[in-house]
Amino acid sequence: MSARILDGKRIAADVRGEVKERAAGLRRRGTTPGLAFVLVGDDPASAVYVRSKGQACEEAGFHSVTERLPAAATMEQVLGLVRRFNDDPAIHGLLVQLPLPDGLDEDAVLTAIDPAKDVDGFHPVNVGRLATGGDGFVPATPLGVREILLREGIETRGKHAVVVGRSNIVGKPMANLLLRYGAGGDATVTVCHSKTRDLGSVTRLGEILVVAVGRAGMITGEMVRPGAVVVDVGINRVPDPARPGKTRLVGDVDFHGAAEVAAAITPVPGGVGPMTIAMLLQNTLTAAERAAARP
Ligand code: GUN
Repeated sequence: MSARILDGKRIAADVRGEVKERAAGLRRRGTTPGLAFVLVGDDPASAVYVRSKGQACEEAGFHSVTERLPAAATMEQVLGLVRRFNDDPAIHGLLVQLPLPDGLDEDAVLTAIDPAKDVDGFHPVNVGRLATGGDGFVPATPLGVREILLREGIETRGKHAVVVGRSNIVGKPMANLLLRYGAGGDATVTVCHSKTRDLGSVTRLGEILVVAVGRAGMITGEMVRPGAVVVDVGINRVPDPARPGKTRLVGDVDFHGAAEVAAAITPVPGGVGPMTIAMLLQNTLTAAERAAARP
């Protein structure tokens, strides 16, 4: 293996330490950052995510609340909670955990969130601000990728960045971030997806390759440009050949194959994953600081 390992776990700990310090300063000035979670239904993975985000809030000195609704909840109930938190001055960030159970209109729920409290960056106003270069909230995972690149001194300006995946949560905002003017942006960006022909011929163009498709080991070493920086957003649970009956976490990139050719690579686990919560906390702190600055 020749690639340098990009240690997201360490960078996430640094960001969380900085957020905690800024939060303490804000508390001294009378504002405790507050983040509310809305969890609908009983998807076990969503419950785990919300619990760990709540714990992260506590460690950062934030106030957090979680409201749960059953899978059979009506739109009126979900929208009622969103409106309640929109109107609550102690709450600066509001996150409705996705996916919502079948029968609920995700777009309508996300659009009901006050854009100033939309720390997930999923509201169309914030999506639009990112696309037009404005100062809105950016989804935490692509923001975490950008933070890794910035803190590791990886230049994006003028580079060919290839993003694999076109989701609203990662691929599209990632492409927009890399396109933005200034630090962490100014790249030439190509976005690939499930209908891209001869995927490898496109990924091999990437001096920076960001992969977010949710398919274990889909990007092999031969699909990576020699000397590229590879960022693996995938988190996939697969059977562990070393421990029969057990599973392990792997990314969307064949780590060992890619590490032979890449200059730098994020591991899974310990790469992009820990950055998501760190950047969510940072977004929430920003929301609280803006709220505190409003007359
Ligand atoms: N489901 C998967 N990722 C996310 C996320 O970043 N935010 C929310 N609200 N739901 C998710």
